[in-house]
Parts: sequence; C-alpha cells; structure tokens
Amino acid sequence: MRSIIDIVDFSTQELEDLINLANDIIENPQKYAHVCDGKKLATLFFEPSTRTRMSFEAAMYELGGHVISMTDAMSSSAAKGESVADTAKTVSCYADIIAMRHPKEGAALVAANNATIPVINAGDGGHCHPTQTLADLLTIYREKGHFDNLTIGLCGDLKFGRTVHSLINALSRYENIKFVLISPEELKLPSYVKKDLLRANKIPYTQTTDLDKSIPSLDILYMTRVQRERFFNEEDYLRLKDSYILTPDKLAKAKKDLSVMHPLPRVNEISVAIDDDSRACYFKQVLNGKYMRMALILELLREAGTI
Ligand code: CP
Repeated sequence: MRSIIDIVDFSTQELEDLINLANDIIENPQKYAHVCDGKKLATLFFEPSTRTRMSFEAAMYELGGHVISMTDAMSSSAAKGESVADTAKTVSCYADIIAMRHPKEGAALVAANNATIPVINAGDGGHCHPTQTLADLLTIYREKGHFDNLTIGLCGDLKFGRTVHSLINALSRYENIKFVLISPEELKLPSYVKKDLLRANKIPYTQTTDLDKSIPSLDILYMTRVQRERFFNEEDYLRLKDSYILTPDKLAKAKKDLSVMHPLPRVNEISVAIDDDSRACYFKQVLNGKYMRMALILELLREAGTI
C-alpha cells in the first residue's frame, strides 16, 4: 500500500506525471468529475490548517467522492489518549484514503505503517509537507514553463520551514538551479540540508541576511512565515518575526517576471499592497494545491486498486 510521507517518495518522473495530470484536470474537469464516485477521504488534522485540509476536501468532492473529517484533535479520541497507530487502524475501516496533519515529526509515517489504506502526510511538525511542494511545483511550472535555469530566493524561516526543505529537494533535481538563502542568522537553513541536498548535488547557493540586495537577481522569491508554533521562547519569536517584509519599494528592484510565492498563511511577510501585482503568485499556489491534491488522490487510489 503506497503512502506519501516526504517529497523524496516521488521520482522526478512521477512528479512530472502528477503535474501533467493536474494540468489535464485543470483543462478537462468534467473528465474527472466522477472518477472517485462512492469513495471516501478522511482528513485527520491534529494541528490547525485552512488551505491543506480544505483543498484536500474540495479535491475529493471535485473527483466525485465524499469526505469524513476530524478537524480538531480535542473532539476525537486522541483527547482520551488514543495513539496515532490505533487512530489509523480505526479510520481505515471507514475511508479509502487518509490525509493527516500532526504536530509530531514522524506521526504520518506511524499512521502509514498502521493503516490499511494510503496515507498522505499533510504536514508533520517541522519535518515534511509534500503536498505543499506539489502545489509549489505546479505553480512554478505554470508561471515559468520549466524548472531548469532558475535562481530561487528562499526568504524567512529557513530553519523550521518544512516547505523550504522539501522545495529544495524537488528543485535540486534540475539543471542550472541556484539558491539564494535569505534569513536571520538564527533561522539559517540546517546544515544537513546544505550538505545532503545542495553540496551533494553541486547546487550553487549563497547565504545572506539581506533581502534588498538579493532581489534583483531572482526569478522566484519564496517568502515564508516565522512560525511561532515552532519556537520554545516567545522572546526570540517576537525579535525575529518581522525580519523580512516584502513591500512595493523592495519589489520595484525585482525582475519584471519575478514570481513571488508564499505557502501561506502570511502574517506580515508580504504587504497586502503587493497582492494585485502581476508577480504575486501566492493565491495561485492555493488553487494549484487543490489540483495537485486531486491528481495525487487519483493516482494513489488507482495504485491501490480502489478505483
Ligand atoms: N500552506 C499551508 O499548509 O496552509 P495551512 O496551514 O492553512 O494548511
């Protein structure tokens, strides 16, 4: 039974096949409107979410399926101490596929090892968020038409930002990619990501604290939120939370075809004055996330022989 825990679970060919499937769904929605008739998605969210949970649910409805949902751990038997393993075994009796978010790294893998249906990791602590990376890849493909020859600025919380680590993994597979890593000293990209992904693949990168100086060279600027929920110390969070705020003044120095991305939710990282700029792609990312989740549900249910 195939589950998806990490972006490394996909080969490059599989990522490209999913992008092609998502593009076909966008162009021919009627073709897919009943492919999951009678099938059920269970969304198990032990941590807050707007986009990921609702886009999974919208995706299943648009494929003709149904959704059963746990939106709050406190209203489930997790509040009585039930384990993730037992929850996964139980939900396997009711649904055909699970999308799960949990604050603990590794929880999705535990669920996958105990479920008898496919499990999709919808975020496990600071570890992985593979379906956000699928949304990011479809957005880059639709904006740029290719993944090669891009200079990508990653800005903000590069330490705890699970979406950043997964995006580096996915893009490191392509030719002539360069990364500009823009963060406060305390939130630099972890050494293991630099060693295992960037240096191992001979991907050029620079590290800086300066967003203004970096902007002119970028094809993509991927902003991230400083994540309050990952800090042990409120004082450190308050000191770092507004390290980078993208404003129209800063954007004026960027290329005309820059793509500004953000996995959202944003707090202050991008001024709302930028939302109407043609370079703002973050709400396109939201929509693309739904299409990639449709493609993924479809593919996993096909592989499982459920449809
Ligand atoms: N990007 C993302 O994961 O958003 P949510 O936390 O709202 O699901």
